[in-house]
Amino acid sequence: MAPAGDTPASAGRSIPFTDPSSTTRVLLIASGKGGVGKSSVTVNLGVALAAAGHNTAVVDADVWGFSVPKMLGIDQSPQMVGEMIVPPEAHGVRCISMGFFAEEDQAVIWRGPMLHKALEQFLTDVSWDDPDFLLVDLPPGTGDISISLAQFLPRSEVYVVTTPQPAAQRVAQRAAFMAEKVNLTVRGVIENMSWFTGDDGKRYELFGAGGGQELADRLDVPLIGQVPLVPALREGGDGGRPIAAVAPDSEAGQVFAAMAAHLLDNPPPRRIYRPELKIS
Ligand SMILES: Nc1ncnc2c1ncn2[C@@H]1O[C@H](COP(=O)(O)OP(=O)(O)OP(=O)(O)O)[C@@H](O)[C@H]1O
Ligand SMILES: [Mg+2]
Repeated sequence: MAPAGDTPASAGRSIPFTDPSSTTRVLLIASGKGGVGKSSVTVNLGVALAAAGHNTAVVDADVWGFSVPKMLGIDQSPQMVGEMIVPPEAHGVRCISMGFFAEEDQAVIWRGPMLHKALEQFLTDVSWDDPDFLLVDLPPGTGDISISLAQFLPRSEVYVVTTPQPAAQRVAQRAAFMAEKVNLTVRGVIENMSWFTGDDGKRYELFGAGGGQELADRLDVPLIGQVPLVPALREGGDGGRPIAAVAPDSEAGQVFAAMAAHLLDNPPPRRIYRPELKIS
């Protein structure tokens, strides 16, 4: 927490996750395409990481279409302790969202610099308490917010969410172009709505097949998971009961647990500091 008498972010606090000594892994969940399941994936992956015993937090960076508080079932406002915001927690995941500061039906009309400032405050004025994982649910597209976050969080890993049809993955891929432009590394692809398993036990590929693997191959990264289309996942999202929390052994619950395990097994390559290479 900030020492007494400290002033808000605008006057000096820095973003803890940019510090070279920070051990937090920041995961940006992105897609050039809307409605592919970024928020659902962020929330359930966060819950799965927390369930595996890791201190986990989520930043809902979709300032216009915020959905994370509802998906996690959080309806209380964050508490203030001194000048720091204490993020509310549900299902083991702490979260901050514009949803805590704006009315549900009130259009958030902030633009450019104000949004930049709001996002910065989400990172500096919240007592995050050194989480192991900070997942960031990006808005659809590759606009200003994504660029701002890349500037604030230059050490983040990007995971691109897509659906299986080829047309979707071409749009989803724009997130990878954005990442490249701002010098972030895409570390994996997540395919969502991959299939629906019928009562007959057969998998029906409602949105086609192969898009996730194709995108992963094109980006030369692994496809880290394929999430099936399950009505319980949508219902859980609408009702604040994420499937990874309430049905971890279900088909989708197991996929999120496996993705969490993949992340743990694949830490980012360490940037080795070689003082002898320093040019002075
Ligand atoms: N695997 C799934 N099975 C069933 N429903 C799903 C699945 N994934 C997402 N949904 C539902 O699809 C809708 C869109 O998902 P979500 O909000 O997570 O997407 P998004 O990419 O974050 O959207 P936006 O671009 O608007 O932020 C939601 O109603 C969600 O519950
Ligand atoms: Mg979303």
